[in-house]
Amino acid sequence: MSFLHADYRKCLDASEQVSWALSSVVPPDSRLDFSKPFMPEAMFLAHGLDSLTSDEKLKLNQIFGRAYGYLFYFVEAYIVAATMEHARAELYGDEHALRALLRFTEEEVKHQQLFLKFGDLFERDFGSAVGLTDSPQEVASYILSKSPMAVLLVTLHLEIITQAHYVDAIKGHTGLDPLFVSLFKHHWLEEAQHAKLDVLELEKLRMGAATEQIETAIKEYVEILDAFGGLLARQAALDVTSLEAAMGKAFPEETRTQIEHAQTRSYYRAFLWYGLTNSLFQEYLAERFPSLLAQCGELAARFGQGRL
Ligand SMILES: [Fe+2]
Ligand SMILES: [Fe+2]
Repeated sequence: MSFLHADYRKCLDASEQVSWALSSVVPPDSRLDFSKPFMPEAMFLAHGLDSLTSDEKLKLNQIFGRAYGYLFYFVEAYIVAATMEHARAELYGDEHALRALLRFTEEEVKHQQLFLKFGDLFERDFGSAVGLTDSPQEVASYILSKSPMAVLLVTLHLEIITQAHYVDAIKGHTGLDPLFVSLFKHHWLEEAQHAKLDVLELEKLRMGAATEQIETAIKEYVEILDAFGGLLARQAALDVTSLEAAMGKAFPEETRTQIEHAQTRSYYRAFLWYGLTNSLFQEYLAERFPSLLAQCGELAARFGQGRL
């Protein structure tokens, strides 16, 4: 099924075919293997820092993995709220669309539970506390204060990167913790349908929108990315303190700055740059939001260098 020409019935069928139970992906006796990295090197830019030992890099990689999983839990909070509204709009409408959107919503709540379980396993065995950005509800209400078209553009961006990270960097990477890889494989299986549903829902809004509404949505999409960037930078600063706690030492100020900057770049690349440069996302924008595509190069350059 082509990404740009999806339909609700096919999304529904695919969702039923790939569906999985939380208890089968994370059975009660699950353990994370802390002798292995969680994040692939291609996404973990601090692996190139000369100021860190290999033990310190391994710990920082796992801290990054913990926050990476948590950030999906975090953004899924607003996606659940938004998708429930899209499903509600189909009540007494197209039953395939209604079921596909209800499954989308249910799957995102299940993903949140998946990432909470991952967090519990991590905290049980990692050995020290890892700081995480707080207030998912506040961030959700900020995002939801924007127009539904802007919110959906951000959601499409995030669902595409979820898939791209797995396919480009995580899949087939034999050196990573196998449970971490499995979590993101199962996440990816269901996200593939979500991106198509975002495209379908976006089209309903775009078709009836005036030029000014489309321009407002594009402006708000960029505002949400900027706000998300601020949150990612806060997470990068927390990672430095978490690494010090894990290693039982304080780093010199210069090393702290290097770690924070490398982490900021890793988060920006993963969550912002990766979407803006993704060929599927760009193909979509070229056809439906060409004036946003024209801004992607400048935005990608800014975020790719770790600048807000
Ligand atoms: Fe998800
Ligand atoms: Fe999703």
